[in-house]
Amino acid sequence: MTTPERTKKGRRLIIAMDGPAGVGKSTVGQLVAKDLGYFFVNTGEMYRALTWKAMEEKVDVTDESAVMSLARRLSWEFLPSENGSSLKTYLDGESVAAHIRAEDVSRKTSAVAAMPSVRQFLCDLQRRLGQEGGVVMEGRDIATHVFPNADVKIYLDASIEERAKRRIRQLRSSGHPAQLASVRDAILQRDRNDLERKINPLAYAEGATLIDSTRLSLHEVARKILKIVHERQKR
Ligand code: DC
Repeated sequence: MTTPERTKKGRRLIIAMDGPAGVGKSTVGQLVAKDLGYFFVNTGEMYRALTWKAMEEKVDVTDESAVMSLARRLSWEFLPSENGSSLKTYLDGESVAAHIRAEDVSRKTSAVAAMPSVRQFLCDLQRRLGQEGGVVMEGRDIATHVFPNADVKIYLDASIEERAKRRIRQLRSSGHPAQLASVRDAILQRDRNDLERKINPLAYAEGATLIDSTRLSLHEVARKILKIVHERQKR
């Protein structure tokens, strides 16, 4: 695994953010990371990247040992985005960004994310990326499992209607237009998969702060989180 050097000094926190699909974790996480000079890490991107690569290489995405041997074979790199605030996933030297948001990849990723050995493998990478601090990491099990001792734990939630609208905007901006009804149904299905998964399901972590973003702008949510971070830095 390749990661960039960190240069900033001082006490750098681990900020863990969890929540369901389409809740705005990425936008908020990037805003928070940018303000703090931290790296933002979207762990869903890693599950999606592996799924996309398996589909590309005609690996059966329901066959755990085949998916795992692909995961081990690949070279995983996490390199800063153009604006420097996010770490983006590269597989065998190629950015996965353009490929991983398609609906068929999203659907199949749920099955891959339910595989215990895949979760263990990606969880190890996530811990190595975040262990030195200075990171805002988002996913489903970051505060419950990946970093249960994170300095700040946030659980972000919003109504299904609001989440579907946000996902539509995200898909459109990345060149994947979609219908509201089908996106809403897909999110509900993903919620079920995330909540009912046997290994590390989406859950509210002990000590987490719950933020309902249904009626807040994502900038307002980011400001709330930054306030919590600044309080934590004083201790
Ligand atoms: O956040 P997202 O929709 O891009 O995540 C893609 C998939 O990966 C989704 O099915 C949930 C899963 N996931 C997970 O199981 N654990 C994580 N830490 C992050 C994402």
